[in-house]
Amino acid sequence: MAILPIQIAPHPVLKRVADPVDKIDDKIRTLMDSMLETMYNAPGIGLAAPQIRESVRIMVVDVDQPREDDDVPPDAATIAKRRVKPRFFINPEIIWSSEEPNVYEEGCLSLPGQYAEVERPKKIRVKYLDYDGQLQELEASGLLATCVQHEIDHLNGILFIDHLSSLKRDMTLRKLKKWVKENPDEIAEKHIL
Ligand code: NI
Repeated sequence: MAILPIQIAPHPVLKRVADPVDKIDDKIRTLMDSMLETMYNAPGIGLAAPQIRESVRIMVVDVDQPREDDDVPPDAATIAKRRVKPRFFINPEIIWSSEEPNVYEEGCLSLPGQYAEVERPKKIRVKYLDYDGQLQELEASGLLATCVQHEIDHLNGILFIDHLSSLKRDMTLRKLKKWVKENPDEIAEKHIL
């Protein structure tokens, strides 16, 4: 297990459609463990493999972790506390989504410091392989539905800013550049440009 650097946008790996996983072996499970640790360390509620420059269809999610200790320097104990309900998704596929929409103010570990309201289906059903390669189906609503859709977007080369108008998207990318300049320590610690 390792904490991996997170790619900041814009970068070609974040634009690529990621490849499906055809064999779930120890190498893939080690990658998933490292992704989970990286996500808790960041901290974030979801992370997709392209964000750590691995263009494969894997994502990790935990929307149940406590968020009040975001500013605590992450040590092993803090990370352990954040680990409430880790979920691993391999080759996820949305098989149903509700017509009813939901708006949520989204952020992204590849767009640090940036947030915007994004409208997505309120409920979804998703089919995927779990950590052990077993086929699973999950019906999700609320934050879990938002997060799963956001992470599946990453596997398809889509960022949350791609759901905004081009004006807002360009503005967010300019604000991100400024944020990167103003937070060199954060970048050195957790990200790659
Ligand atoms: Ni993201």
